[in-house]
Amino acid sequence: MDIRETSTGLLALAPGKLNLFLEILGKRPDGYHELVSVMQTVSVFDELAFERTSEGISLSTNTPDAPADERNLVYKAAAILLEESGSRCGARISLTKRVAIGAGMGGGSSDAATTLVALNRLWELHLSQEHLHDLAARLGSDVPFFLYGGTCLCRGRGEIIEPLDEITPLTYVVVTPGLSVSTKEVYQKYRPDLTSGPEDYKLFLSKLRGAGSSDIPPFFNRLEAVTTQLEPQLKLVADRMRHAGLRGVTMTGSGSAFFAVAAGRKEANEAVAGLSQLGIGRVVMAETVGAA
Ligand code: C5P
Repeated sequence: MDIRETSTGLLALAPGKLNLFLEILGKRPDGYHELVSVMQTVSVFDELAFERTSEGISLSTNTPDAPADERNLVYKAAAILLEESGSRCGARISLTKRVAIGAGMGGGSSDAATTLVALNRLWELHLSQEHLHDLAARLGSDVPFFLYGGTCLCRGRGEIIEPLDEITPLTYVVVTPGLSVSTKEVYQKYRPDLTSGPEDYKLFLSKLRGAGSSDIPPFFNRLEAVTTQLEPQLKLVADRMRHAGLRGVTMTGSGSAFFAVAAGRKEANEAVAGLSQLGIGRVVMAETVGAA
């Protein structure tokens, strides 16, 4: 996690993520879905600045799409830290969103994990990594992953994390169509396919290890069919990306962003330039980011 000291406090970069593999194993009694996913942090970042104050949490954001109040996961993360530690500190937090919102890239979850780590340091709370992990899981299923970053195997409802060895750095092209998808709605619409068994994550992992950018195994996301049924225009986005010569075109999380692998930076830049002309959404290059 990239957190540095400044003259006024701390400045942090919170990376986005891609789900290289996501399979649903079943529905749980608590309403969540049991899943197995390979998550990867990538080089698109939200920026957070933290200043210590005597009391109260104040949050400002650079876009009305990210609320600057108790609804924001950053605010919730700061509040849960105060509650848990029983301390009476305050913070002025400024959030600059760059990771697309509601795109399946985990920007809000990453902001929350970053806030836990940064304020634990700024407020000198000395909460352990295990304690922060527990608080992260309470904030959201994807939040604990961002305490680790890099490449991780995520299980349970997403909160059981096994860091994996670094994979060959890859260059991705990510298209974020201008529509925000509700994770809750996508999971609600999901129906298991009773005619086939689950995709084999072990096979995926064994092929991913040691693979170069030219022989990466196909990415997989069980939720892609659900989201594209809800938002059929996303199929066109995926088609355009394939047409641009990109490989492994797949949705991340519950969508709506799609990603694919380019052979290198030059190819990625060309694909970004070409796809940007088509009006299918915001197109960016993103690279593998190692563990926090
Ligand atoms: O945990 P989080 O609040 O991010 O999840 C948002 C929603 O996504 C949940 O309310 C739930 O409906 C759904 N979800 C799920 N199974 C998961 C993760 C999320 O059903 N493993």
